[in-house]
Amino acid sequence: MSADPREREDGLGWVTRALFPGDGSRVTVQRHATPGAPAWAIVPSVERARFLVPLGNRRVAAASMLAYNGLRSGPTRAVRSVLGSFARTGALPFPVLSATGSLVDHLASVLEEPHLFAAVGIRPPDPNRKPTLQLFGPDGRPRGYAKVGWNEATRGLVRAESAALRGLPRNAGPGYPVTPRPLHAGEWAGQEIGVTAPLPERVRRLSDPDEPRPAAMLAVARRGGPPGERVPLAESPFLHRLRQETAQVAGPEGTAIRAAVEALATRAAGVAVELGDWHGDWVPWNLGEVPTATGSALVAWDWEHSGPGVPVGFDLAHQAFNTALVVGGRRAGEAAEAAVAAVRRHGPALGLEPAAAGPVVDAYLIEMWLRTWRLAAGGAGWNPDLHPALLEVLEFRNT
Ligand SMILES: Nc1ncnc2c1ncn2[C@@H]1O[C@H](COP(=O)(O)OP(=O)(O)OP(=O)(O)O)[C@@H](O)[C@H]1O
Ligand SMILES: [Mg+2]
Repeated sequence: MSADPREREDGLGWVTRALFPGDGSRVTVQRHATPGAPAWAIVPSVERARFLVPLGNRRVAAASMLAYNGLRSGPTRAVRSVLGSFARTGALPFPVLSATGSLVDHLASVLEEPHLFAAVGIRPPDPNRKPTLQLFGPDGRPRGYAKVGWNEATRGLVRAESAALRGLPRNAGPGYPVTPRPLHAGEWAGQEIGVTAPLPERVRRLSDPDEPRPAAMLAVARRGGPPGERVPLAESPFLHRLRQETAQVAGPEGTAIRAAVEALATRAAGVAVELGDWHGDWVPWNLGEVPTATGSALVAWDWEHSGPGVPVGFDLAHQAFNTALVVGGRRAGEAAEAAVAAVRRHGPALGLEPAAAGPVVDAYLIEMWLRTWRLAAGGAGWNPDLHPALLEVLEFRNT
């Protein structure tokens, strides 16, 4: 039972290599914890590991299964509730991983938390994904949430999110979503670490996930401030940036994406847009709500793809595109049509005239293809849902 889990090819191997890298850590898997070393239950088994539940403090072990259950689906919540009750009694009949010299020790030191525990979800290794840690204090209360960027692509995402969170407006006003406060950003063992403060503990899933929230999208775009000036899309700094970035793309993809940008410039003649920030991954699974005295407030996390200077309406297009693609299982072309329909319908609430819907969605699709291309260039591989499909959709939309 004591083979080093870091040698595994699966999710457990991937996560343990991130948490306990190098020779400075000693990792064992046994029936019981090694005295003196932090320990985790491997739930449900080494072969099918789904969670690492921190041991040594029953309140923490239970909290790690029960916290944020308002965000989980019914079946996941049920499994976690059962595990939480077992954890509270100290009866978790799973193999135990003991390890010294871990990322958790490092986080305890940078966060100045004398006793820090981490619960870790395990998913199959994926070059686009990051191991993540839910951090708790000995009282069982959440202390933060850490992401580990381990390859070039994910290091870039973690760095981008930390920078984005630091750049968000403070006291942006009541319409602005609640966002996680950045607690720490830095490098450790060749990895990029980003830690955010805990989300409000009462956060829950959106009651109406498909409903667009134009007021919150506008607040994000305008950083809680007044409306910006409208500019001709075809001559905007945004289009200039698309030309600059697509100039870097080699090969037939470069030819195709530059053609899409020029087609957009032609199609956008006469279309004026407001430029602003966007969240960059506005989808129901990155949003929640918390009860307030007057109703509820929107909570938005996962700011890895956020940025300034894009046409207002991108978050709306993204929500409709991804809901169709991921939830609806539709093809990229149909998802693009769903995005156009959403921007036509709800765009007026964002100050967009109906004629802007097509060009704004084309611009959004180009931006998404560039994101896919950047991730591929960072070693994450091409996202098969988006490449080459987005280039084909753009070509089709322009003929
Ligand atoms: N600050 C936080 N406090 C508590 N929980 C958080 C926090 N940030 C994120 N989470 C939880 O972790 C989940 C994943 O976070 P996030 O979406 O930022 O990461 P991700 O690596 O992009 O993951 P995914 O690929 O699942 O979207 C969220 O859906 C939320 O449940
Ligand atoms: Mg997410």
